[in-house]
Amino acid sequence: MARILLTSRLPDDALDPIADHELVMPRPGGALTTDEIAESARDVDAIVCQLKDRIAATVFACASRLAVVATASVGYDNVDVDAATRAGVAVCNTPGVLDDTTADLAFALILAASRLLSDSERDLREGGWTDWRFDGYLGRDVHGATLGLVGYGRIGRAVARRAEGFSMTVLHHARRPTGLQGYVADLDDLLRLADVVSLHVPLTSETRHLIDARRLALMKPTAVLVNTARGPVLDEEALGAALESGRLFAAGIDVYENEPTVHPRLLTAPRAVLLPHVGSASFATRLAMARLATTAAAEVLAGGRPSNTVNPEVFDN
Ligand code: DGY
Repeated sequence: MARILLTSRLPDDALDPIADHELVMPRPGGALTTDEIAESARDVDAIVCQLKDRIAATVFACASRLAVVATASVGYDNVDVDAATRAGVAVCNTPGVLDDTTADLAFALILAASRLLSDSERDLREGGWTDWRFDGYLGRDVHGATLGLVGYGRIGRAVARRAEGFSMTVLHHARRPTGLQGYVADLDDLLRLADVVSLHVPLTSETRHLIDARRLALMKPTAVLVNTARGPVLDEEALGAALESGRLFAAGIDVYENEPTVHPRLLTAPRAVLLPHVGSASFATRLAMARLATTAAAEVLAGGRPSNTVNPEVFDN
């Protein structure tokens, strides 16, 4: 029997794969700091964590028996994978099971931001809707618009499939040519052409502030920007300024640079739809993510090599 650290509670139905092991959950209802995770990791064989947990190099320095960190998220920027690899620890994530749910949310943000749903609903709730006006709450049409996808992995492609139903022209940019219709080699060109830009890249040193003030200035003033990827991909200060000045029409944001803190300039910016990182938040998908993470942890503990390991080279050493 192995010892597994669960950094937070997971759905009960996701625990069967690790039911034969001893589960340690120091604070079921709340978050652990990195120091607390490092302390708890000293005598465990596996960690099952979530995207809010920072699994830094200090965790691997303390954890002499650790074999696997399974994060119940597709993004794994919360884990220092280089440090894990040096320590011989497998890192597993949850690709595939959240693509459609996250694409649904990205499309909801495309619609909500383009049609000013947050601003108009706020106005109604605050008693500001006193007269039906012909020129009231005018947004931008989504149907027939040009969608620019930045990143064309599984989630980006799932957004593209939804866009077809709205008769959108779909362009995409990726680091490497995809050989597919709609590929735009230069990100700056894609930003100039798109009416709606949706971000679907992982957070890496290359994508940090990929969309900065210079790139925001390339976008059409009528354009809408949606981010369901990772907050630091976008310079929030620059986005707030672009919305305030009217340089950009609207934005739909689900992820933030310093979650759960939201940049004050975004909180007050006009025409911004702001959600609390709910891209994958459906009952079915969160259960599937949790099960994929616990299954991967169990598999590594049993000597297996799960296909959702992001550093499979650890199995060869
Ligand atoms: C992930 O899994 O990385 C998503 O951001 C969760 O919503």
